[in-house]
Amino acid sequence: DKLLVSAPSIVDRDFVKPKLYGPGPCDYWPSMEEALSKPIITPNCDEFYHVLDDIRAGLQYVFQTKSKLVLAMSGAGHAGMEAVISNLVGRGETLLIASRGIWDQRAFIIANRLGIKTEVITAPTNATFSLEQLEPELKRLRPAALFITHGDSSTGTVQKMDGLGELCHRYGALLLVDTVVSLIGVPFLMDEWGVDGAFTATQKAFSGPAGISPVAFSALAEEKINNRNFEPPFYFDVKLQAHQWNCYGDTRSYHHTLCAPMLWALRCCLQEITRETLPVSWARHAASTAHFHKRLQEYGFQLFVPEPEDRLPTVTTVVLPPGIDYLEFTKYLREKHNILILEGRGPTVGKALRIGIMGVNATTKVADTLADALVDARNAFQSANK
Ligand code: GLV
Repeated sequence: DKLLVSAPSIVDRDFVKPKLYGPGPCDYWPSMEEALSKPIITPNCDEFYHVLDDIRAGLQYVFQTKSKLVLAMSGAGHAGMEAVISNLVGRGETLLIASRGIWDQRAFIIANRLGIKTEVITAPTNATFSLEQLEPELKRLRPAALFITHGDSSTGTVQKMDGLGELCHRYGALLLVDTVVSLIGVPFLMDEWGVDGAFTATQKAFSGPAGISPVAFSALAEEKINNRNFEPPFYFDVKLQAHQWNCYGDTRSYHHTLCAPMLWALRCCLQEITRETLPVSWARHAASTAHFHKRLQEYGFQLFVPEPEDRLPTVTTVVLPPGIDYLEFTKYLREKHNILILEGRGPTVGKALRIGIMGVNATTKVADTLADALVDARNAFQSANK
């Protein structure tokens, strides 16, 4: 035997899938199983281009944009983040980062690796930004762009967006927005709000698998892309990918091999969302989370975000009574109730639980199941601590 490494034994193990009630990934639409088993499509089949066109039309709807430059990056949400930043801000230009959680920290790292100058403005991690707070920095720094997270799954906050695009444009900045955990669950109006670059992901309120990241660029962003004197990494180059994605009606150019199951999955999410319609989806998320918050407050739980209008309708952050360990608490819910929620991430480590009521799970039934399980777990820890 000449092989240096012999064949390992790879065997199936038993696995009980938990109820996915964390900040993502979330449970799938029931139609996803069929979507994921659809035939492989490649650029040699007409159906490939039909699917890309379906996806682009669905994305224009969910982002609420008439822009042509709308497509999906291969990769999880970080791919969308890297694409939006690297296509719109060049080495030596300034990116102003509005920071309140972990995702803007990722934007900071990505921008620095690209040689972009970064400036950071912070808000308390359980609150959001006002226009009054952002304006002086935009005026002083005149950055190429402002990066802000719409829904922040690390803190459970949602940023108000009204007027932000206009403010950025007044000072010559583009507005880049992370909508990974907000789109579908929370109103987002790209064109109306003057957003120039937005990205999202499929494993949150879209209720699909992670691995493809929709992106959308405004006309202003497109102008920058067409006139820039810098190049983004080849894989993320929207200028090249636009031709593969039929953004300009000339779809047959090849950039990279797209993952067929992910294309079908994204198309399936968009089919479900467009059937339900955005206003119904937004209302469903708002109602189930409001019900959840009401139940938590009746039971004396403290929400991490004090202002109701800052609370994100897709991910709730909850503070546990002193003396209860966050990791032990999530472990108990998994073992006793087969519920998966997560402890804090970034600024909420050791300070909050993160619970997602989104996508197919955005129902009052799930909210009740969660509230009952949280009370049971808290009682169990409190009587053990006595
Ligand atoms: C991951 O996306 C998280 O919110 O933890």
